[in-house]
Amino acid sequence: MKNLTQISQLNRFQIESLIELALKIKKEPEKYSNKLQRKIIALLFFEASTRTRLSFEAAVNRLGGKTIGFSQPGSSSYGKKGESLTDTIRVVNQYSDLIVMRHPKSGAAKLAKKVSKVPIINGGDGANEHPTQTLLDLMTIYQIRKKIDNLKIAMVGDLKFGRTVRSLSKALTNFQNVEITYVSCKDLAMKDDIKEAVKKAGLKFKQTQDLKQAFQKADIVYMTRIQSDRFKDKKKARKYQGQFVVDNLLLKNAKKDLKILHPLPRNDEIAQEVDDTAYAFYFEQAGNGMYMRMALLLKIFDL
Ligand code: NCD
Repeated sequence: MKNLTQISQLNRFQIESLIELALKIKKEPEKYSNKLQRKIIALLFFEASTRTRLSFEAAVNRLGGKTIGFSQPGSSSYGKKGESLTDTIRVVNQYSDLIVMRHPKSGAAKLAKKVSKVPIINGGDGANEHPTQTLLDLMTIYQIRKKIDNLKIAMVGDLKFGRTVRSLSKALTNFQNVEITYVSCKDLAMKDDIKEAVKKAGLKFKQTQDLKQAFQKADIVYMTRIQSDRFKDKKKARKYQGQFVVDNLLLKNAKKDLKILHPLPRNDEIAQEVDDTAYAFYFEQAGNGMYMRMALLLKIFDL
């Protein structure tokens, strides 16, 4: 593996070996502390980020490497002087051994890959894909259930603009007998390309607005926020807020071993009271991000 711009680049075997390595690193992170010595990783974040950027930065640091980059395009020539994305990538190629990038436009990582001589990792491209999030999501599901096959997984919220649920759905097509329930309002439903891919892979899926029933049946619920930053009309985004909210009352009928995941940041879709229950797993999930990104860097550099 030399790049990761979309999750479909990885097959089941590669996903499972990344999970295995990430869990190994999580157990004994000090064992890997010199692996990236003398490597410089560029973190180019053209769009807001907390977890993805900081967990990559922490991952590089824990592996003994160094980072360069920016977290706001406004501080780069791309943002302020009209430099193109491809020129920016060509230049950063001169300084770094790998580029992690996040960009508001779908397809930006693929475009960067075309001109880059160093590996590109997509840290999220618009409403398209977020493959490293999916890897940490799968690692987390595996950690919880010791398997990914034969699970009932509900995805809730903004399935139209959310890139995490798109990449996660695609990745699940590598596994057997996974049943997906998409819970959203009609306007924010999962797009057809993903539903077709899921169907083609022979997985069952359904679309519903019945959050209560979805919670009763699921082994894993994957909550997401309304992607208000992707709406042209912010007022419209507000209309969708608060439609699908998990609280302790809703959890009364859930399976005892249900776990709730969320890529974070959360808005109002998970009541804070849920944080103190055994169902909440989203902060541990965010923690897994660092270990999975360590594993991914090691695989890409073949170390
Ligand atoms: C997600 C993203 O950026 O797509 N965040 C993340 O990387 N953990 C989800 C989101 O912003 O809602």
